[in-house]
Amino acid sequence: MTTQPANLLVIFGATGDLAQRMLLPSLLGLEVDELLPEKLHIVCCARSDLDTSAFRNMAAKQLQRVEHADDVPVRRLLDRIEYLSIDLSDAASFAKLTKVVGRHKNGNVLYHLSTAPSWYASICDRLAESGLIDPDCRIMLEKPIGHDLTSSREINDGTGRAFSESQIYRVDHYLGKEGVQNLLALRFGNSLFEPLWSAQHVEQVQITVAETVGVEGRAGYYDEYGAMRDMVQNHLLQLLCLTAMEPPSHFEPAAVRNEKIKVLRSLRPIGGPDLAGHSVAGQYTAGAIDGKAVPGYVEEVGEKTRTETFVGLRAHIDNWRWSGVPFYLRTGKRMPRRMTEIYFQFRSVPHSIFPAAEAQMQPNALIIRLQPEESISLSLMNKTPGLDRDGVKLSQVALDLNLHDAFEDKRRRSAYERLYLDALEGNSTLFVRRDEVETAWEWVDGIIDGWHKAGIEPKGYPAGTWGPSSAVALTERHGHSWRE
Ligand code: BG6
Repeated sequence: MTTQPANLLVIFGATGDLAQRMLLPSLLGLEVDELLPEKLHIVCCARSDLDTSAFRNMAAKQLQRVEHADDVPVRRLLDRIEYLSIDLSDAASFAKLTKVVGRHKNGNVLYHLSTAPSWYASICDRLAESGLIDPDCRIMLEKPIGHDLTSSREINDGTGRAFSESQIYRVDHYLGKEGVQNLLALRFGNSLFEPLWSAQHVEQVQITVAETVGVEGRAGYYDEYGAMRDMVQNHLLQLLCLTAMEPPSHFEPAAVRNEKIKVLRSLRPIGGPDLAGHSVAGQYTAGAIDGKAVPGYVEEVGEKTRTETFVGLRAHIDNWRWSGVPFYLRTGKRMPRRMTEIYFQFRSVPHSIFPAAEAQMQPNALIIRLQPEESISLSLMNKTPGLDRDGVKLSQVALDLNLHDAFEDKRRRSAYERLYLDALEGNSTLFVRRDEVETAWEWVDGIIDGWHKAGIEPKGYPAGTWGPSSAVALTERHGHSWRE
């Protein structure tokens, strides 16, 4: 692991939506608290024919929207930024970059590719040809790393020609989220849960990433990918890994990623006769969110399409710890509310001594809410107060931990603040390794291929509902129900 902080950051795709909406504001978040390396110089590259002052004006408009920033850190950040108009297909453009890097390089360089992934390999080749890579450089790659296993291998081979695996930082911004890291803290900072964290005590697990937004002007990209490639292959499977993995020996890159990959390799393929009973694809139709009418996906895209905007899965991890426990995964756009949550339902008591409470008896549950607010809740059975002349009555009561209130004085950091700082400092623990990306694609490809071969098309669901009715059957057939 390289430990020298980078003092030069080169962002490709700097006029794009991600850079403007997320990356620059996150850099500002770090600037506000003086967390950026003192001498950090930032080269923003894109095709647009702008000069540095026009780009700084453009960035300043975005940065005005950042809540905690006043003029001084905004100015400091803008002063670090230099803009370079680059045609990615043109060697002469890279000659300009070579000059700029030569002027500012005084230690490590972090390249951040926020362009279409089809450019990644050629950018890396050009960087290599231009002599811009040395063993201390690092490169951050945005998702999607491919559209399937074959294309992800091409991207990984292409970037791997120029950079060694230890220099490559593949971003899954969910790993930068505070709530996601708290999942690790909850599991491995407490001794309470570990003895219960297995098939012996857990009846079912649900991982939900629900969004209220539709495709928001990204129809071109989204329609090519769909929920399975856009969300399940990366964010949901990463959440699954952190939920199900064995305790790593250290919180460091190799130890954490070695445990995550074991989970991915233990995922039972979903296909053949299991396909229909273990997977559901949906596509939203017109409906209402928060009382406001919204159009259907087809209207947003402008043509009939088979792309899924909802996926529900019943997954199994075939290892000792989780044998037989269903992991229900669900993600969708235009759901009734925004919610990222991991739900553990524990097994019922083996024998009840409260016959009068039969109807109220519920299994214990642990609910880890990651978004929109972070909370942890443990549902327990309690005695309902009373004299119990007809037998003891029970009620379900939640032991609630509101992390927002508990850490009221701490500013919530955006995912990219954490990820930038880690990448600048050379800590790849919260980035995704090549084998994880490819193993995840292999599993996801199997399901998508199965859908195509079986002619399975997404089922409609009205915007503002929890997906198609077949998603309900996915759980209820097995005596479980989705948490809503
Ligand atoms: C992105 C997906 O990776 O994650 C988007 O491409 C999705 O489609 C987004 O909306 C969700 O991220 P967050 O941080 O808003 O939960």
